[in-house]
Amino acid sequence: MLNITYTERIVTYYENKVSKKYYIKTFGCQMNVYDSQRIAGILQSLGYQEASSQPNADIVIFNTCHIREKAAEKVFSDLGRALLIKNERKEQGKDTIIGVCGCVVQAEDEQIAKRAPFVDFATGPLTYHRLPEILAKIARKKGISVIDTEFPPESKFDFLPQNQSESACSYLAIQEGCNNFCTYCVVPYTRGVEYSRPIAEILQEAERLIDTGSLELNLLGQNVNSYHGEDEQGKERNLAYLLHRLSELDGLKRLRYTTSYPADMTDDLIACHKDIPQLMPYLHLPIQSGSNSVLKAMNRRHTKDDYLQIIDKLYQANPNIGMSSDFIVGFPGETDRDFQDTLDVVNKVKYIQAFSFKYSKRPGTPAAVMPHQIEEKVKKERLEILQNLLFDYQDKFNRACIGKVMPVLFENKGRHSGQLIGRTPYMQNLHAELPKENLNKIINIKITDATTNSLSGKAV
Ligand code: 5AD
Ligand code: SF4
Repeated sequence: MLNITYTERIVTYYENKVSKKYYIKTFGCQMNVYDSQRIAGILQSLGYQEASSQPNADIVIFNTCHIREKAAEKVFSDLGRALLIKNERKEQGKDTIIGVCGCVVQAEDEQIAKRAPFVDFATGPLTYHRLPEILAKIARKKGISVIDTEFPPESKFDFLPQNQSESACSYLAIQEGCNNFCTYCVVPYTRGVEYSRPIAEILQEAERLIDTGSLELNLLGQNVNSYHGEDEQGKERNLAYLLHRLSELDGLKRLRYTTSYPADMTDDLIACHKDIPQLMPYLHLPIQSGSNSVLKAMNRRHTKDDYLQIIDKLYQANPNIGMSSDFIVGFPGETDRDFQDTLDVVNKVKYIQAFSFKYSKRPGTPAAVMPHQIEEKVKKERLEILQNLLFDYQDKFNRACIGKVMPVLFENKGRHSGQLIGRTPYMQNLHAELPKENLNKIINIKITDATTNSLSGKAV
């Protein structure tokens, strides 16, 4: 294994310019989707083009997720399959580089070296900007593998090639890392401490994305509403300020931000939901559990009542806002009573969408060694009850949309010809029969039909 000294410069551009192909498979959160787009940008700047499928690729990258055990294990089975493809290609005289990026690398670099020694390189979520040097190293010394999991002193954002919008909805990372240390969560260990990008850098990236076709920007951060980047005068600014600055950009029609932490929902941020017309009436605000004792054991800095008060303020700012959340069931020590408190929150907030998970023990986190771990059977039962309730509210909300007219941003072609798929302001998927000229446009649609997971409608 070699460590990156970071003194080498890019030498592979001309070598790779001739029809080398890349294939990236992304696991996990929206931040990983954003990172994969930036990794693709680096590879394109080195002359690579996107491959139509994995067997056609000269370089295969898995951008991995470590948040729950299942996601992390999936990587190793995919790596096994990648080795088979690499061997088949070798018989045809073609080399394949296999790389792993993302949070599994940060947490399990030794496991990767042990369980998948054929991996050519592994680089963490904060170091993938060093990919050109890594590839140069591999090109020069065939047969070596490079693992780079340092928390680097530099910001990767200063080294990435300029990105362009790939569709009318773009992700824009404004903040990374987390200082909250919820006791179940690996993020503070894999993505490191909080870092906020400066305002000017974000505005520049936003303008570039808008100039190349973005109508909607979704600002990303593990703890996005604790954003505290410097403005042009070096003054620290919060997310509310940044949203106002972004809302002044010509051509930007829609703004979103995710994922937020309840204790960081400041009054000026809540007021943005009243004052900024581009801010969509949808907010993902994870509570995780409705029980105060579980929240305390999770090291969350809010109670159930604090959370419900924030929701009240949000509804006052914008009565049409739709809420979403993450939930964990079966956290160590969670009793039936605690679980009932979670159901109670769901019945009060009436989420229009939500994500719910069984607690998954993550090595190295405090909750993994807490007493009173919950049996798998109980976790499964609680998850089913919670999901049925959540789906019920989602279904009710979707059906209540029938007859309404909503502006829909069409991002993709549908499965049938003549059909487009878009998103409503509430993040619902919507299908409509529309000519493809309407792709990447916002069209007013009358909702004609609804299921739990999607809507359909007609242009008005
Ligand atoms: N087990 C189950 N779910 C988890 N999450 C984070 N860590 C764990 C874990 N150890 C969930 C939280 C978080 C979402 C991204 O993943 O609900 O908000
Ligand atoms: Fe993980 Fe979110 Fe808690 Fe940070 S706030 S530790 S990212 S669950």
